[in-house]
Order: sequence, then C-alpha cells, then structure tokens
Amino acid sequence: MPMPTPQPPPLLPLLLLFAFLILLLPAPSVSATTTTTSNATTTTTTQQFREAPQFYNSPDCPSITSLHHDDVDPDESDDDHMMICSYQAVHVAMTLDTAYIRGSMAAILSVLQHSSCPQNAVFHFVASATANASLLRDTISSSFPYLKFRIYPFDDSHVSGLISISIRSALDCPLNYARSYLADLLPLCVRRVVYLDSDLILVDDIAKLAATPLGPSSVLAAPEYCNANFTTYFTPAFWSNPSLSLTFADRKACYFNTGVMVIDLDRWRGGDYTTKIEEWMELQKRMRIYELGSLPPFLLVFAGNIAPVEHRWNQHGLGGDNFRGLCRDLHPGSVSLLHWSGKGKPWARLEANRPCPLDALWAPYDLLETPFVLDS
Ligand SMILES: *[C@@H]1O[C@H](CO)[C@@H](O)[C@H](O)[C@H]1NC(C)=O
Ligand SMILES: *[C@@H]1O[C@H](CO)[C@@H](O)[C@H](O)[C@H]1NC(C)=O
Ligand SMILES: *[C@@H]1O[C@H](CO)[C@@H](O)[C@H](O)[C@H]1NC(C)=O
Repeated sequence: MPMPTPQPPPLLPLLLLFAFLILLLPAPSVSATTTTTSNATTTTTTQQFREAPQFYNSPDCPSITSLHHDDVDPDESDDDHMMICSYQAVHVAMTLDTAYIRGSMAAILSVLQHSSCPQNAVFHFVASATANASLLRDTISSSFPYLKFRIYPFDDSHVSGLISISIRSALDCPLNYARSYLADLLPLCVRRVVYLDSDLILVDDIAKLAATPLGPSSVLAAPEYCNANFTTYFTPAFWSNPSLSLTFADRKACYFNTGVMVIDLDRWRGGDYTTKIEEWMELQKRMRIYELGSLPPFLLVFAGNIAPVEHRWNQHGLGGDNFRGLCRDLHPGSVSLLHWSGKGKPWARLEANRPCPLDALWAPYDLLETPFVLDS
C-alpha cells in the first residue's frame, strides 16, 4: 500500500520569517549575568550593554607611554606596563561586581565623555576573587574596546572576618571595603589614584579632580562637610571611652564621603594606613563604636587631616536616605559629579518606573541594551 505523500511545508515563508528574526536579534555581545537564589526560585537577569563611542585625546594631551627608562621594569617593559605605570595617566580605581555593573558602566562612560584626555585614563577595577573575572573583562571591553584597564582580584575572605553588621546590609559587602586596600592591590608604580563609587557620574574633567593638591603631608583629598554633626557617626560607647574619644582631640575632624577620594598611594603605603584601618575594624568587632560600614574607619584614621576638594566634586545623597530612599535635591552650588549615595539607585528606580527627578541626569549614561528576565 503506498504511503500518503506528506504535504511539503511552506518552506519559503518560513525562511523569510527566520531571516527577519535574525535581523531582530541584537548583535552578538557579552552579557553580565546576575543570579540571585532565594528559596525555591532562581531568577537570572541577563544584562547586555551597548558599545560606547570611542573618545579621543585633544591635541595638547601628554603622551602616556613616555616613561623614563629607569622606571621601567626590564622584565615587564611592554606597552601594557608603560601604560599602567604612566605618571601622565589619570588613574581611576573602581570596584566591579554584577550587582552594580550597570552603574559602573555609566560611571566609566561619564569619565571618558567629559575628559579632555580620555585616552590617558587608566582604570583599575577591583573585583571579588570569587567573581568570574573573564566575564567582567569581556563585559567591559565589549562596551569600551579602547579602554585601558586592569582587573584585580580581591580576597573577600580576608576582610569578611573583619566586618561587623551595619544598619544597611549593602554596606556589609566585602567589596565595599576594597577602597582600603588599593595601596596593596595596585602596582607600586601607581602613585596616585582617584577612587570612585559605582553609583555616580562625572560631568567635568576628571583630570582636574586628580590634580587636587595634597599639600605637604595629606594622604587623601575629598570634599569635607564641617557642618555635619560628627558626633552621630560614632556610638555613645565610643565617646564615653576617654582613650577612644581622644582620637579626635587634636584634630578639626569633619565628615567626608569615601565614595570620591584622591589618594596618594605612596604616602598610604609609607604610613601603612591599611593596618591602621584594620585595627579600628578589629576594635569594632569587640565593642560597637560605630553603626555604618566602611566609612567610620576612614573618619577615625583621616578626618581632620585630609586635603579639601570643592563640594561640586561630590554632590552626594541623591540615592535618598538610608531608610526610605526619598528623593533628594542637589546641594546649592555648581556640579562636577553627581553621586547617588544612599539607599536608592537611579537604575533601579528607572527600572521600576518610579524615578526621582534627578535620575534623568543619570539616564543618558546608561549603556544597558536589553534587560531579559528568565525565571526558572
Ligand atoms: C524562604 O523565604 C522566606 C521569606 O522570604 C523566609 O522567611 C524563609 O526563611 C526562607 N527559607 C529558606 C530556607 O531560606
Ligand atoms: C565565566 O564567563 C565566561 C564568559 O565570559 C564563561 O564562558 C565561563 O563559563 C564563565 N565561568 C564560570 C566558572 O562561570
Ligand atoms: C550632635 O549630636 C549629638 C548626639 O546625636 C547631640 O547630643 C549634640 O547636641 C549634637 N550637636 C550639635 C551641634 O548639633
């Protein structure tokens, strides 16, 4: 008995549809994957980022590969080393993790876009040693193919033993403490670095910030806020202990935010400030002397001895307060850097369709292409 001939499928329309679908697919790009596991459900968010435009130096920018010969390690005298060690470069340090990468990408773009010598910016990214460094590297270099950068693995286990629980759990993340270890992580040839948080954008030339004079002996520079009530950053246990409260006795200590700092790494290494910060963290574990995370040890070690930076370089607090994340306005005065410190982040509020008015200033730097959410 002859088999019935199957009807041939309408091949041509299918092929056309297929070709059309291919056109709709985004160009192959690397994606950062955030996986959060909570109880029974695993939510995987895949974030794809656009490629940023290339930025060029203006004609009068110094060349960053001109090093003196005696500064070049003969074993490592390649271009990469020259660039990483250049004194003419503006060295920028940031942390990198999947939770904040959307903010980091926007921050990098803003730095390059407002630099007069963007090709002289060298980025030093600190990532958890347990993070997928090649994924982070691919994510950065697919959006910024011309960026000069290195990724440094940070051993979280060392610092997690020193962390005590703070009032805002995001502040307890070990990577949040990486800023205290830059002098150890970055190569010795890097003598000055601008540390930047991931929840900020620059709207001015970072070279101006990097050139902040540090005076004869300051280790770091940051905007100071002498009207803030310094008492509130430490516990009554701290102030009532005579030997502890004497810490600030001979200093005019003012609050400063550690999200934007110019650090002289040579002086930091010379004074072994990493150890001094760790000693306060050890004490905090034994008796509670402050409430917030990585900030108070910096205040204990440096407040009153830092070089001032104009307030326009850290228009902070745009994330809102630590408890409710209410919208905040700019502080009076001009603006070179907008900082969404506090609980709310502009990308999260934009995503939730509940942005604060100033989040519109962050949005133009957002490189996120297509957010996919896959529930399994
Ligand atoms: C599951 O989630 C609920 C609410 O989010 C929490 O109370 C509970 O402790 C979680 N269970 C486990 C095993 O993590
Ligand atoms: C790290 O990311 C790369 C993509 O860049 C991927 O191929 C690799 O499987 C990842 N490794 C781990 C251990 O997840
Ligand atoms: C600072 O705060 C402390 C405790 O929170 C309070 O006792 C003190 O009066 C405040 N000082 C000023 C100048 O507001």
